[in-house]
Amino acid sequence: MRLIIKKNYDECSSWAADHIAHVIKTFNPSESKPFVIGLPTGSTPIGTYENLIKKCKAGEISFKDVVSFNMDEYEGLPPDNDQSYRYFMDHTFFNHVDIKKPNTHVLNGCASDLSKECGDYEKAIEKAGGIRLFMGGVGNDGHIAFNEPGTSLSSRTHVQLLTEDTRIVNSRFFGGDVSRVPERALTVGIGTICDADELLFLVTGRAKAYALAHAVEDSVSQMWPITALQLHKNAIIVCDEDAVGELKVNTVKYFKEMEKDSKF
Ligand code: GLP
Repeated sequence: MRLIIKKNYDECSSWAADHIAHVIKTFNPSESKPFVIGLPTGSTPIGTYENLIKKCKAGEISFKDVVSFNMDEYEGLPPDNDQSYRYFMDHTFFNHVDIKKPNTHVLNGCASDLSKECGDYEKAIEKAGGIRLFMGGVGNDGHIAFNEPGTSLSSRTHVQLLTEDTRIVNSRFFGGDVSRVPERALTVGIGTICDADELLFLVTGRAKAYALAHAVEDSVSQMWPITALQLHKNAIIVCDEDAVGELKVNTVKYFKEMEKDSKF
């Protein structure tokens, strides 16, 4: 696993966007050979999306031959609900770049048969040729997508009961009212995420320090889903100085030394 330690949030966002642009350009996608990317929501990736939008507007990168699959969606929130993840993605990213809307996939939390929706999502990913790069964030408790602590490390796309902690943390987007946060969500599984050729996870801020310490220094455990990245052959975590607060000084030194000359 690579650990890229940057000074602050802005530097992380800029590094992640440069990396994604580099990977897409190197892949050289075309209509018959699109680049398939997995995408997250949350506050952490917003800066990366902003940087990618700038690059797209400047003609440095195009998303016209990019197919996307989002990580998760709340149950019961329609796309026009401003807290649905489809709404978030449209307004934060998709509407501002040249991606073709039919190429963007977000789980439908209002589907009449949620299990079928999850199964179909797995099939759609497979049909698209699998995910080349999955970008992600992490919850304070180490959850990735909506895979809460205790979720099988080999899980596939499924309906997930959210923990009280996650609902409390996410209530900030629902006017601070926990009762408005859906109790369940649809999420790609940890196995689905780890099937991607490359993982790029963004971990910023003091609140994520314990999750990062587990991710880097602790053993693999279903109680800290982010630790699954340790088993992946090509995983990168980009983090800021605030997030490394619970890592050992020597761990930080080691990774900084290892990455000191790397550009992407
Ligand atoms: C939600 C999302 C996750 C995200 C997490 C952290 O639970 N399902 O994908 O990583 O929040 O969000 P934030 O980046 O806002 O801290």
